[in-house]
Amino acid sequence: MPGDVELWQQVENTAVSLFKDFGFEEIRIPIMERTELFARSIGEDTDIVEKEMYTFPDRKGDLITLRPEATASIVRAYIQHKLYAKDPVRKFYTIGPMFRRERPQKGRYRQFYQINAEVFGIDSPLIDVQLILMLVTLLARLSVKDAVPHINSLGCLQCRPQFKALLTDFLEAKSKDLCPDCIRRSKRNPLRVLDCKVPSCREAIKEAPSIVDTLCPDCSLDFDTVRKTLDRLSIPFQVDKRLVRGLDYYTRTTFEIQTGSLGAQNAVAGGGRYDGLVKALGGPDLPATGFAIGLDRLAEIVGLAESDFVKTPDVYIAALGEKSISKAFEWACAFGREGIRIDMDFSNKSLKSQMKRADKTNAQHVLIVGEKELEQQAVILRNMSTKEQVLIPIDDILEKVKRKIIEK
Ligand code: HAM
Repeated sequence: MPGDVELWQQVENTAVSLFKDFGFEEIRIPIMERTELFARSIGEDTDIVEKEMYTFPDRKGDLITLRPEATASIVRAYIQHKLYAKDPVRKFYTIGPMFRRERPQKGRYRQFYQINAEVFGIDSPLIDVQLILMLVTLLARLSVKDAVPHINSLGCLQCRPQFKALLTDFLEAKSKDLCPDCIRRSKRNPLRVLDCKVPSCREAIKEAPSIVDTLCPDCSLDFDTVRKTLDRLSIPFQVDKRLVRGLDYYTRTTFEIQTGSLGAQNAVAGGGRYDGLVKALGGPDLPATGFAIGLDRLAEIVGLAESDFVKTPDVYIAALGEKSISKAFEWACAFGREGIRIDMDFSNKSLKSQMKRADKTNAQHVLIVGEKELEQQAVILRNMSTKEQVLIPIDDILEKVKRKIIEK
């Protein structure tokens, strides 16, 4: 709605300028893709793929899905268009709607918006830290307080099987407390049980083994570097051993930005490394990492006042009588072309009623165009904050009004 839109634009513009600061390029991806792409990347056993995707056969019977997230599509584009050919290191951002059939509630919508960032071709954990730094910087630029990065490591293909075995044993012992989905998942993909939202499952996994205790030396060193670098940059964070994220493609460092001001849906952003995905989808074996911010949720907690972003008219034009309206209309068009923000009432109502409307719009000046003054080749410019009124001749009116606006 108008009013909200200006806030969203402010958030988007702040994010875009941050992306430029850090060398990201914009990429725009389709709203729909083949279902297979999401099933293979997000994972068949995830809530998103099992329950939440908007999937339908098209006229030829091909299965199509409205994108539930952007990462899979960006990886697809990176491979399909060989965006790695010149230089495998590429940094992309995209902003747009995503679709998940979740139970709608505050902060959880079926069409929601994400600001998404993906980095390809960089192995170093320092880039993961830089992504977290970018999120923290964006929130600071938007005056959001009370947001803390939560981090975890999900290990790699070498060390995760050992953790999975440990977790499977633990879950077997708890099977009577698990929901039917989790009983099924505990064999096929036990990590997903850690992500279940059913309260009895959450209770049952409280004492589950922690993945950071079974990391291989490489993953352990990697996670150590992330923690130490965050400390070095004075970014406060929490290690959260339960943070497994709801998508299967993650490896090593994963993170979420959580805040107390959102209630139950406390994650304003989430992301992490997904080193195997480019290869799994048919591309070269290149590392990748990224994040997505929930724009709906971010807009809700942005600490800006309306006056920080809503632009009021520079000049409100109050014209009295048909002749004046016609002349004033010409000027209004000329002002608008010159980048002077204008508003004008075409109603030919009384001066009192037009002044009332000018007041409501919070216009800084009112240009009063009366027939009597017009005959004398002049108009009145009223400064709404000082209440000062000056008579200005109509020749060269554009320059004169501009000067007055700057003077303010
Ligand atoms: P995700 O955690 O599923 O990650 O979503 C990221 C953010 O999108 C969440 O933290 C939340 O703020 C917002 N979000 C998710 N679902 C909804 C919803 N139904 N209504 C409103 N907001 C929602 C991903 O999507 C990954 N693709 C992030 C990523 C990029 N990882 C690596 N690169």
